[in-house]
Amino acid sequence: MRKPVIAGNWKMNMTCSQSRNYLSDFLPLVKDIPADRKIVLAPPFTAISTVANLINGNTVQLSSQNVHWEDNGAFTAEISPMMLIEHNVEYAIVGHSEPRKYFSESDEQINRRAISAQSHGLIPIVCVGESFEQRERGEAERVIRRQVEQGLEGTDLERLIVAYEPIWAIGTGKTCQAKEANRICGLIREWAASSHLIIQYGGSVKPTNIDEIMSMSDIDGVLVGGASLDPTGFARIANYKVD
Ligand code: 13P
Repeated sequence: MRKPVIAGNWKMNMTCSQSRNYLSDFLPLVKDIPADRKIVLAPPFTAISTVANLINGNTVQLSSQNVHWEDNGAFTAEISPMMLIEHNVEYAIVGHSEPRKYFSESDEQINRRAISAQSHGLIPIVCVGESFEQRERGEAERVIRRQVEQGLEGTDLERLIVAYEPIWAIGTGKTCQAKEANRICGLIREWAASSHLIIQYGGSVKPTNIDEIMSMSDIDGVLVGGASLDPTGFARIANYKVD
């Protein structure tokens, strides 16, 4: 049984005081969330401690937006798994298309991050997805397959999440059609050869499309960017309904 994970990636948004205001609106709206799903928030590093203290004892879990493969050392601007688990962080996003694009993150680095996360008990959320040009050229499947095979190599698939985030759907308002997202998630499951693997969809998820997305057979949750910054909207997403 794959329990859906509804995650909000705040990216480089939210100061500590904004996080406090957010949670005072958000937590009451998700306190009676059905037990068949998990809610995860990924604040920026500076707000992790604030969020950790406020969600304590709540149904919401915490993710980081990155994690390094070393426990400590001369890695300016990186964050170590030890620093995260001290704040009760349980998940770590790795391989998001933004660091892939802006900082040229490779599949090999992403794989090292995922393995390091798991070795400290964190669940990596490994993001994969093709660009618009790659899709137009008919390369989407090849690109995603490579990201899955290299990114997941040597990991424990029962303690890992894959997020399928087509780059052209991120922050653009253009959601991938639910059926197409489901088809790709089905292929990812096949390539990973695991029926237990949790696979999320991400890319312009909103309160208005969440119910359709979550009704798909191979989609086990969502990774939400922009819409997770609005506590009411994200609470609606977390309270998705499937017939
Ligand atoms: P949007 O929901 O803003 O499209 O972002 C998706 C995303 O990148 C989540 O990691």
